[in-house]
Amino acid sequence: MKAPLHLGVAGLGTVGTGLLQLLASRREHLEQALGRQIRVTAVCARSRAKPRAASFDGAIWFDDPVKLAVDPAIDVFVELIGGDEGAARASVEAALAAGKHVVTANKALLAKHGLALARLAEKHNVALNFEAAVAGGIPVIKMLREALAANEVRRVYGILNGTCNFILTKMQNEHLAFADVLKEAQEKGYAEADPTFDIGGFDAAHKLALLTSLAFGTAVDCSQIRVEGIENITAGDIDAASDLGYRIKLLGMAEQTPTGVEARVNPVLVPKGATLAEVAGVTNSVAIDGDFVGTLLLVGPGAGSKPTASAVASDIVDIARGLVMPPFVHPSASLKPYKRAEAGLHQGSFYIRLAVEDRPGAMAAITRRMADESVSLESIVQRQSRHQAGATPPAAATVILVTHETTEDQIRRALDAIVRDGKLTGKPQMIRIEELE
Ligand code: HSE
Repeated sequence: MKAPLHLGVAGLGTVGTGLLQLLASRREHLEQALGRQIRVTAVCARSRAKPRAASFDGAIWFDDPVKLAVDPAIDVFVELIGGDEGAARASVEAALAAGKHVVTANKALLAKHGLALARLAEKHNVALNFEAAVAGGIPVIKMLREALAANEVRRVYGILNGTCNFILTKMQNEHLAFADVLKEAQEKGYAEADPTFDIGGFDAAHKLALLTSLAFGTAVDCSQIRVEGIENITAGDIDAASDLGYRIKLLGMAEQTPTGVEARVNPVLVPKGATLAEVAGVTNSVAIDGDFVGTLLLVGPGAGSKPTASAVASDIVDIARGLVMPPFVHPSASLKPYKRAEAGLHQGSFYIRLAVEDRPGAMAAITRRMADESVSLESIVQRQSRHQAGATPPAAATVILVTHETTEDQIRRALDAIVRDGKLTGKPQMIRIEELE
């Protein structure tokens, strides 16, 4: 029997508690499979007295995660504190510098400091594993690091934020307004402490930054991702999209283009028949297009105590087996600098919603501006009108346009001109259509 693997677990919240439960319930199985024990030797959390659904009896208690991170009694530092600075960053840096392996679920930390931390891990020849940082229980990091290591990945995309998918699904199924459903998502505990992180698309962007690096061998650079959240999606958009045969989803997508990597998080319309359109509620999904394998689609729980603990435990098991590889597959010195694709060149069709004054000529003015920018329209529909003759302010109508293939630049120029014409009663809505299968 090999020597036990000693863990120091910092953070005993939802995921930390789930990890303690998992390690206790799978103790014998893991010991047999690995030929060694995995022991929770030390723990650290904000409050020792807080009631928890898992026992850490026998573990050494630390108040300071940095002291735990460098303690000679541990081999692996498991960071489940969260946050891109403060205690999480300090303790992970200290652990790596002290030659400890690190397992973390912290996407914000890695999206911001991933490259520097990878360099530190490689310098000390230790693992920096982060399966739980992207899509909770879905083993997408392993998929990219290991199973697809010999493929050229062309595109990686998916539903990376359960809170947003929950909100959009509920708005769609129950015809509810965004604000009402957000409240429910917070009450259910799906949203991060600051919900703008989820609904503004930033949580998904952190995850996409990690996937982009793993998929394309580029340095992690979250600042290059174009991010738009779901705050401006209305129940009316969801209904209009449905009538047109689409669902609205918040997608993270990164693809190789001739001018560089295009990575963005934004709401998109996907055909109702597409597999991603059927992914409902807090479930996540990630699709990967590889040159030899074709398209792979992973679907599963993107958050929650047990699924996330499952991902953390898989990273620990790798370390127990002696598997140490560069955190972003390529040694950090050979990661390519991130070259961002030229903006605005994406060819595709778009959904546009305009709130216009319901007056003769309004529609003609819109189509003229689109024609001026050579934007060809597939359909134009006036969905509602509260028209009353002589009403003040003028009655408003909602006009929904679907374009043929065009570039984002052309649409933006046309919309700027429409806004300048002064006939809109609200901000235009523009959503990409992704004809996914
Ligand atoms: N708040 C995240 C989500 C959970 O809604 O997907 C973990 O990343």
